Amino acid sequence: MKRKHLLWLLALLVPSVAVGWPWSRDMMNSPSIKPQEGEMTPFAKQSVPVGGNPTVVTDRLAAFRLANPVAATPESIARGRQYYTIFCVPCHGVSGAGNGPVAKKLPVPPMNLTNDFIQKDTFESWVFAMISFGGRVMPAYANDLSVEERWDVVNYVRQALVKDASDLSAAAAAAATAEKDAKK
Ligand code: HEC
Repeated sequence: MKRKHLLWLLALLVPSVAVGWPWSRDMMNSPSIKPQEGEMTPFAKQSVPVGGNPTVVTDRLAAFRLANPVAATPESIARGRQYYTIFCVPCHGVSGAGNGPVAKKLPVPPMNLTNDFIQKDTFESWVFAMISFGGRVMPAYANDLSVEERWDVVNYVRQALVKDASDLSAAAAAAATAEKDAKK
């Protein structure tokens, strides 16, 4: 056999034999712990889960009188406005008056969310409960909005919806006046 041929043979043989060497299977045989295998490390005493389990309530009445855990910061209200626009405007309308584009199709009119009952008389948790469980006609939004996001909507409805609505009607009135003036 020529030297050149021998080199070729070695080059082909070495990798195929190499898989049989003990260290080439180290990774395959290393001990591993699968998820949920063995005992879980217990939580430290008095530890508090952070951003952990969502509030579990079973129905509207159980959700009634929950304390609002999300401070009504400008950020929370801004997020709430965004969610309100996506999920509530179709029925309750941009101004909250219950005149969204879908409202006419419903057997029960969507409530005017700017009224005293929603704004002052009831608890914030009642609005949270409605969003979480829906009403006779209103759908539940617990699958679409996380607990925090629902409280963001509550913060928006209670802190900024009425102001947004009056800004909106002021802007509409200004636009109408401008149109009238333009026609003169
Ligand atoms: C498909 C239409 C629809 C959508 C979307 C909708 N609602 Fe409603 N909502 C209603 C109707 C209809 C009622 C009247 C009560 C009922 O359904 O039982 C209502 C009632 C309410 C009430 C008053 C409940 C009461 O009787 O005191 C609140 C608060 C409310 N909605 C908040 C919201 C919020 C916040 C959103 C957005 C996350 C939303 N709704 C989305 C249709 C809708």
